[in-house]
Amino acid sequence: MPGGIDAHVHLCQDLETGPLGLGGECADNFETGSRSAAAGGTTTIITFATQTRKEEDRSLLKVVEAYNSRAEETGSYVDYGFHIIIVQNDADILENEMPILMNDWGISSCKLFLTYKTQCLTDSQLLDVMFAARKNAITTMIHAENGDMIEWLTDKLEQKGMVAPFYHALSRPPIVEGEATNRAIALAQLIQSPILFVHVGSVLGAANVRRAQTMGLPIYAETCPQYFHLTWDDLKRFHSPTCFENSKMICSPPPPLSVSDHEDLFVGLANGTFTIYSSDHCPFRYDHPHGKPSGVLEHEPSMEGELEHQHEGKELQDLLRRKQGAFRFIPNGIPGVETRLPLLYTGALAKGRISPQRFVELTSTNPAKLYGMYPRKGALMPGSDADLWYPEETFRPFHLTNSMLHHNVDYTPYEGTEFSNWPRYTILRGKIIWANGEIVGKVQDGKYVKRGPSLLSQGLPRADRDPRRVASWLYE
Ligand code: URP
Ligand code: ZN
Ligand code: ZN
Repeated sequence: MPGGIDAHVHLCQDLETGPLGLGGECADNFETGSRSAAAGGTTTIITFATQTRKEEDRSLLKVVEAYNSRAEETGSYVDYGFHIIIVQNDADILENEMPILMNDWGISSCKLFLTYKTQCLTDSQLLDVMFAARKNAITTMIHAENGDMIEWLTDKLEQKGMVAPFYHALSRPPIVEGEATNRAIALAQLIQSPILFVHVGSVLGAANVRRAQTMGLPIYAETCPQYFHLTWDDLKRFHSPTCFENSKMICSPPPPLSVSDHEDLFVGLANGTFTIYSSDHCPFRYDHPHGKPSGVLEHEPSMEGELEHQHEGKELQDLLRRKQGAFRFIPNGIPGVETRLPLLYTGALAKGRISPQRFVELTSTNPAKLYGMYPRKGALMPGSDADLWYPEETFRPFHLTNSMLHHNVDYTPYEGTEFSNWPRYTILRGKIIWANGEIVGKVQDGKYVKRGPSLLSQGLPRADRDPRRVASWLYE
């Protein structure tokens, strides 16, 4: 099959260089993250260069240059490109720098947030950035959760003492994604802009996407393994007053409530509601001050007052609460770049839920088309890069443990899960980089991929035939 393209990978985002918020720091850099990708059959990753609200981060070009140097510091085992996360609607920057991002860097996609205080844009700010992106043929990716709903519910849960990791899911019921997807679809329709919803995790979100697609709107959706292999119950596993292991499963949107949701989401994989299947690899260590809470308090709670006095820092307070397992302070995200293809193989392809063609579309061809890399990537054709992966020829089920993986994270959410297959070879531009359980490539093998505009959103019919219904005069 064509090499896997994982279009949603977080690497090298830390307290200084990226707004992951909540004190989180990526445990993987380009070396360890790309090594893990290669071992899981993936030959191209797209990671996030992230603007912050700081004055020195106004310039998107500076953000990208700084992020690029993080990639060049170590090199990469697989090919890589960048999305840009935009958290400021700065008119000058958008007008002057977006064309350079597209033309000089080949960055043809930006991610915008409807949640997280440090990243969230208002509706009019979203319109500003989406409009600028549309004019530059840059695809807008949307993190669709209603941040105000989450904040409000979190306050209410905290008032009732419901702060354990499990309540993360109750702070984000499906309507949180349902509202945000509908709103973003309306904004996109207003200005005739294609959008891609990242990490859609609810049946309601998927249904909204489906309805918009049926109207002929250029709305695309990504989903991820956690929405097919985890449920709310996984946020309850292991919980005790001193053990916060279930924080390992915290991601946003949260996993669905039950396995019947999985079944509904599988339909979306099969029928094309979901365009791409990415990992949203967000590597936090469990046992690390900037990771998930390990549950081990470094200081007795009784010292909290004293520490507050010493450091007078809200940050320290937040760190202590994270250590105590309060979900508000737990960084959101789980690792999965290496398990992505094997999980879809095991859970969907081997079970007959999707065809081999659909498997290739979701994991390689569609991300290549959507993000402007096709047909160099995502195809086995004369002239394409010879990126491939081969499964094992025979069915050899085994149970995964984290020590088998190649990331720099000290856990996998899929510990103990049975897999029916694993990539035997991964081949990058004709060179074998993973063979029979060994990394055989070099960390210099991966090259930066300069991308073009999306091939998916071109030439789509207008949903609203009368241009007065939508603001198409904006582009005249
Ligand atoms: O919980 C998640 N998804 N963390 C990763 C960051 C993001 O929003 O994609
Ligand atoms: Zn997101
Ligand atoms: Zn993400």
